[in-house]
Amino acid sequence: MRLSEARKDHFRKLAKREGYPSRSAYKIIEINKKYRLIRSGSVVLDLGSSPGGWLSVVCNHVGPRGFALGVDIRPSDNLPKNANVAILDVTSDTFEESILDLLPRTADVILSDLSPNITGIWQMDHLKQIDLTKHVIKLFPNILAPEGSAVLKVFEGEALKDLVDSIRLDFERVEIAKPLASRAASSEFYLVCRSYRR
Ligand SMILES: C[S@@+](CC[C@H](N)C(=O)[O-])C[C@H]1O[C@@H](n2cnc3c(N)ncnc32)[C@H](O)[C@@H]1O
Repeated sequence: MRLSEARKDHFRKLAKREGYPSRSAYKIIEINKKYRLIRSGSVVLDLGSSPGGWLSVVCNHVGPRGFALGVDIRPSDNLPKNANVAILDVTSDTFEESILDLLPRTADVILSDLSPNITGIWQMDHLKQIDLTKHVIKLFPNILAPEGSAVLKVFEGEALKDLVDSIRLDFERVEIAKPLASRAASSEFYLVCRSYRR
């Protein structure tokens, strides 16, 4: 077994043992350990939340005073009691309106682990993923609180630089994270964006 496969297998087994719906949970655990974005009482919007690994982690952190909303085109099962979920498409024209109705106030943190169906055609997958991320960025002015944070999955490729340059204008700090649970061979990584300049 190659090292990356062994690591994937390790996180899959760990997720099963610790009751997370997916090994992805360990990506946000690692990011949050380092940056401390999600806290008790936070309002968090988790986009591309199915099957619920990140959302379960978020629910543990926000606790009873906070609010966690997961959104996906697919359903999720076996989530913590304090999880709120909605089946919605981030690309739909009415998406922002629906989110504003569902959140109790602007979000302290917006997470996006959105991924299109992977075709294996690298260039096409990259462009589709960046397009999904652009839909997330469009939400910031009305949905992300001033000084709020975002964690955005992105796929490496030609459209990335312009996207990162534009995000840097909106946040005090933007850093790149590649958590251990993210396969080394995959082109995904995460932009950790802090202190939104609203
Ligand atoms: C990598 S998975 C997310 C894993 C999740 N963060 C977890 O921890 O279990 C990516 C998700 O993005 C969702 N997705 C893709 N396109 C979407 C869209 N247009 N609107 C909402 N969700 C979408 C997929 O359905 C998929 O569940």
